[in-house]
Amino acid sequence: MITAGIDLGTSSVKVALVCEDDRVIASASRPLVVSRPHPGFSEQEPEHWVKAVIECLDELKMKNGAALAETAAIGLSGHMHGATLLDETGAVLRPCILWNDGRSAEQCQRLTRDWPGLHAVTGNLAMPGFTAPKLMWVREHEPAIFARVAKVLLPKAYVRYRFTGEYIEEMSDASGTLWLDVGKREWSEPALAATGMRHDQMPQLVEGNAVAGVLASEWVKRWGFRKAPIFAGGAGDNAAGAVGVGAVHAGDAFVSLGTSGVLWATTATFAPAPARAVHAFCHALPNTWHQMGVLLSAAASLAWWSGVTGVDEPTLLGEIDASVPSSDCWFAPYLNGERTPHNDALVRGGFLGLDGGSTRARMTLAVLEGVAYAMRDAQQALASAGTTLTQADLIGGGARSPLWAQLMADVLNIPLHQVAESEIGCAFGAARLARLAAGASLDGLRRPARVRSFEPHVDRAALHAQRHGHWQSLYPALGAFARQRYGC
Ligand code: XUL
Repeated sequence: MITAGIDLGTSSVKVALVCEDDRVIASASRPLVVSRPHPGFSEQEPEHWVKAVIECLDELKMKNGAALAETAAIGLSGHMHGATLLDETGAVLRPCILWNDGRSAEQCQRLTRDWPGLHAVTGNLAMPGFTAPKLMWVREHEPAIFARVAKVLLPKAYVRYRFTGEYIEEMSDASGTLWLDVGKREWSEPALAATGMRHDQMPQLVEGNAVAGVLASEWVKRWGFRKAPIFAGGAGDNAAGAVGVGAVHAGDAFVSLGTSGVLWATTATFAPAPARAVHAFCHALPNTWHQMGVLLSAAASLAWWSGVTGVDEPTLLGEIDASVPSSDCWFAPYLNGERTPHNDALVRGGFLGLDGGSTRARMTLAVLEGVAYAMRDAQQALASAGTTLTQADLIGGGARSPLWAQLMADVLNIPLHQVAESEIGCAFGAARLARLAAGASLDGLRRPARVRSFEPHVDRAALHAQRHGHWQSLYPALGAFARQRYGC
């Protein structure tokens, strides 16, 4: 059986065709842009997602038409939390407000104050990246748009809608809205009421491995499918990545170095631990949940530094002398604020400790270290919630760099494993969910081969444990500076 995985990422759409034995037959991708109309805002045009998906499938038809024609099912993965607002005709009302948008901090405070059930029902702190506070913001700042909202879809559900005509969402992504009762796996009436929303504005809910629509006939014809492929419910990008690496049993863990950074641990039960901004969400598979720590700017920090310097990322990484144990300056990766462990939308990043001798290579190393130290913060937040990781797989674009992978292993002081197909991990996981929806058994979900393992070096681990302690003093200073600067 051939299945397709469509991953709607923040920086690109990727589509992969995958065989029943997990072999990737072909893949295509198209870049996406993020617009930042005001400081702290982050938006995308939903039409760009649809155009990118069409272009990827057109390319696959041209280059791998025979395999595409045999595709039985399509799975979707998507960046989470985005608010895509539709009117009653299904037309998009405004650009999608993304997961790393910080405009709704005030609404989060109000929601926390006014709804005592928040943490127990949703398992999470109210954080500005989540969907519900964004709708509260729209209600206050764009009332004419709010009045016309007939459906709120997460990004991948909008893609599904455009290709199937159905309003359907699955549990892992729905968990990031703050409208889901995460323990019960159903929309929560108190959560909807607390944010001025109605049940009929939500899509229908399914599990990620359930059937969730069929490709509409115009697309079946355009891409030459022998039989109209079904859609699987799919997963939020992190849950899709988890299915990709086979992290489906309690205790399985991975680190994702994508635009965002994630430390994921699968849990057998709903395990809320909001105190240090640990996320507790449904997995994309029935009766399974997970905890995760989320950094808002992981590989995004390196991409930003590449943009600022005008030097591509491989060149920047190549300039670092791997024999140098650490940088001589510091970087705080709070370019969009931070979620775990601070839940602070206002704080901003910074380089510190520069001197006249600081070089670009040392500053690049500081960027990689800053992200690794922020990941160590997330590791400690998970540990304080009772989840201690002893090893983890490594996925996402940043995982390609052996230097960064080794640094991560040293800083987290656990072995990390690069796995096959890790670069297209979310599309791969989505294709696997499609296979499950088409009838394959969950028992057949193997862990992909480990391509390379990174063991922590004892000396470096000790050095970074100490440096992490120093680095941790940056946040209180930067947080205080931001509050003084923005007057909150
Ligand atoms: C998770 C999160 C990000 C996005 C983008 O809570 O906000 O990981 O899904 O990748």
